[in-house]
Amino acid sequence: MAYYIGVDIGTSGTKSLLIDEAGSIIAESSAEYGLSMPKPLWTEQNPEDWWQAVKKTIQGVMKASKVKKGDVKSIGLSGQMHGSVFLNKAGKVIRPALLWNDQRTVAECEEITRRAGGREALIEMVANPALTGFTAPKLLWLRNHEPKNYAALKHLLLPKDDVRRRLTGEFATDASDASGMLLLDVKNRTWSKELLSKLEIDPSILATVYESEQVTGTLLPEVAIELGLTPECTVVGGAGDCAAGAVGNGIVKQGILTASLGTSGVMFCHSDSPQYDTQGRLHTFCHAVHGKWHMMGVTLSAAGSLQWFVNNLCTELLKKKGVDPYQVINEEAEKVAAGSEGLFFLPYLAGERTPHADPNARGCFIGLTNKHSRGHMARSVMEGVAFSLRESLAILGQLDVPVKEIRVSGGGAKSPLWKQILADAFGQKACTINAEQGPAYGVALLAAVGDGAYKNIEEACKATIRVTDRVPPKKTSQKKYDEAFPVYQELYTSLKSSFAKISQL
Ligand code: XUL
Repeated sequence: MAYYIGVDIGTSGTKSLLIDEAGSIIAESSAEYGLSMPKPLWTEQNPEDWWQAVKKTIQGVMKASKVKKGDVKSIGLSGQMHGSVFLNKAGKVIRPALLWNDQRTVAECEEITRRAGGREALIEMVANPALTGFTAPKLLWLRNHEPKNYAALKHLLLPKDDVRRRLTGEFATDASDASGMLLLDVKNRTWSKELLSKLEIDPSILATVYESEQVTGTLLPEVAIELGLTPECTVVGGAGDCAAGAVGNGIVKQGILTASLGTSGVMFCHSDSPQYDTQGRLHTFCHAVHGKWHMMGVTLSAAGSLQWFVNNLCTELLKKKGVDPYQVINEEAEKVAAGSEGLFFLPYLAGERTPHADPNARGCFIGLTNKHSRGHMARSVMEGVAFSLRESLAILGQLDVPVKEIRVSGGGAKSPLWKQILADAFGQKACTINAEQGPAYGVALLAAVGDGAYKNIEEACKATIRVTDRVPPKKTSQKKYDEAFPVYQELYTSLKSSFAKISQL
């Protein structure tokens, strides 16, 4: 029997899992790490923390499974997208990586748009507008603000690809993750020579682009020993966590969408052609399905909003031994009627991407009265995130994307209440599948495809993934949300100019 490892290098931690060639999960291991915020809306992590977590969790699954090292044939890597790992000539990390939800690059986004010849010209080149979270603005920020570090720069890698370098010695990436750098000609799945030249970026700092199931290298002998694996074990291209999560949910053909509630929230659809939103509200990236694409909308703080709520407003629950604070606030929120009695939450704790692309947007509770309790606030957080994802769903509708089924995934979707709220807010069944590991499972399957266990990823998903639960919308709640949704949308419009002023205070 052959075995495969999927690794997901997330924002709050890394998860590794080991599957057999039939797709059954044999062992899982996870390790957490922190994030630093040197200034408000700046987020950084140390790539060394990812590496230590990857080693620990791979060793963890090997130990727990007792699988023979020679039977593990391949590893797939997934990770938080857009992060910038800056390396010098000696392969040393120059400074902490800037993350996907870092908002410091407003001026650099303007610079990119100007150098590209305007927003439309940029979208034509790389299928997307310049957004603060993407990687190219981070590179220009380094050039503009830390010239000494920029002078030392020899390689720019994405988070999972820095792990790949440490595993294999190769500088490689995959087309899905590379799409989020804003330097890829997404249509042709190759670096955009045109944009690189306009931005005066040396193409040699970028990694070689592979498809997600292609083998990018094998483990370095000393690393193989440390991990309890063999140097014959391959590492495939893998994918950014959104595309990997979609594969792990079987989103490999048109009509099935996934709404995921991780730190960020993602509404994701497969696309057979490089279709894009001319207004640039949704991202168009390469998919982890060979030669295919996807569109997605991103809510920057999804389960991250609830985590913020628990960590800051439920501190006494965190201190109680044997109490799960999330269970308590779910129970409190469940007692509140749909619509939270007029309380709204705007989930813009880290600014917002879709549909506003506004780093100045701020989180808000609006409509508070003295009747509202913590349960109302918790419920309105879940509803605000659901409305935000509904905005992406509405744009997909405007682009005539077929929606036959929505699969919900990610940590937040484990809450039956939040799942019901999603079904009610979307007016669609919220489906869940047999495998809940999303990105790590998706890249483990890609590793199996790369090793020849399946003909392609479509075949692998068909053999391993099935829907196990369908939660239908409740008519009365759906009606309530249909009434509340336009009000939610109006709130951003009304507050936009105040947000801009707040950011200057
Ligand atoms: C996607 C995005 C986030 C991160 C989180 O564009 O920024 O979903 O990938 O891990």
